Amino acid sequence: MTSESKNRVLSGMRPTGRLHLGHYHGVLKNWLNLQHEYECYFFVADWHALTTHYEDPRIIGASTMEMVIDWLAAGVNPADVRLFVQSEVPQHAELHLLLSMVTPLGWLERVPSYKDQQEKLRERDLATYGFLGYPLLQSADILIYKAGLVPVGEDQVAHVELTREVARRFNHLYGREPDFEEKADAAIRKMGKKNARLYRELRKRYQEQGDQEALEVGRALLEGQGNLALGDRERLYGYLEGSGRIILPEPQALLTPASKMPGLDGQKMSKSYGNTIALRDDPADIEQKLRTMPTDPARVRRDDPGNPDLCPVFQLHEVYSDEHRQKWVREGCTSAGIGCLDCKQPIVDAVLGELAPIRERAREFEEDPQLVRNILREGAEAARDVADQTMDEVRSAIGLKY
Ligand code: TRP
Ligand code: SF4
Repeated sequence: MTSESKNRVLSGMRPTGRLHLGHYHGVLKNWLNLQHEYECYFFVADWHALTTHYEDPRIIGASTMEMVIDWLAAGVNPADVRLFVQSEVPQHAELHLLLSMVTPLGWLERVPSYKDQQEKLRERDLATYGFLGYPLLQSADILIYKAGLVPVGEDQVAHVELTREVARRFNHLYGREPDFEEKADAAIRKMGKKNARLYRELRKRYQEQGDQEALEVGRALLEGQGNLALGDRERLYGYLEGSGRIILPEPQALLTPASKMPGLDGQKMSKSYGNTIALRDDPADIEQKLRTMPTDPARVRRDDPGNPDLCPVFQLHEVYSDEHRQKWVREGCTSAGIGCLDCKQPIVDAVLGELAPIRERAREFEEDPQLVRNILREGAEAARDVADQTMDEVRSAIGLKY
């Protein structure tokens, strides 16, 4: 991985509804941490949503702005991050098309989500060309920015794996120029005598002894060569590793730990279970949802003791309460010392407290959608600049330059 790509993070979300606490505790908080450390690209995957919602795409248009407001409200900072909508960077589609030429059908048919989703969403006809290509479009999303790190959940790891294979195949097919050795040799000489000698030595150590450190040092050496042209640098990265030119670097998945956020019924919080608290739900509704959520069914009357291990409310205490308060719940519940509403009150306070600043930040954007549009426009412009560069390299590697 080159230093440029090592620093680049890309992730996307399909716009299929409002975000809830599960998204916040799982994905968004993770994004907030990444945005300070990396060059981040976060985008709305509207084309991906279309692969499953092509018959009724209204939800896509309606959710896109709302989702971006949720991101901004949660603290994603457009000064640090490029935020954009996939379909506003058509280069994703061009790269997808070119990658489709080199991707064997079997690779796509074998991606686990292909059959799984078709089974799960039986009411929709997903026997389409676009749906089969879903993971390859995702590969294009990643490779067009040469992103090195892709924060995703467990269910998406196979897609990043596919991306690595496609990148490898692309580089293998188009990174091998007929005169690769000579060009690499000429590029080495451009580094000057001392660095050229060091490079050759490191390459030998890596290729003959598999010395990983030599590989790392070699890459660092190339990073430091400010006067090397981009093509030469790509050649030398590839030559170091024993491959052709590396035009599209292989990304790595950055596994987002599964959100432990329980829903109102104790199952994982998810729109399909109808057990969510949305980030911008009305406070009175949130309070109502929590007050009416189920508890241990053994506590029919106030003086029936209960068992927190059988109660979804206790799962929320595990997210929102320290040990001291969890102990208070355990003792009060098993001895019928507290009522369920007493037990829920600290959760109501914690959730409302967590969401208050989010709701507050959202207001500015709700009142001025033009602000959101401007952020997305600027994000797309910045994204297109990077994407254009990659497409230039990709087209010339294939030979589509006239
Ligand atoms: N497929 C992802 C999901 O369903 C969304 C997505 C599209 C994505 N393109 C991406 C995620 C690129 C990471 C990188 O969650
Ligand atoms: Fe659940 Fe708390 Fe009621 Fe016990 S007291 S049943 S933990 S809500």
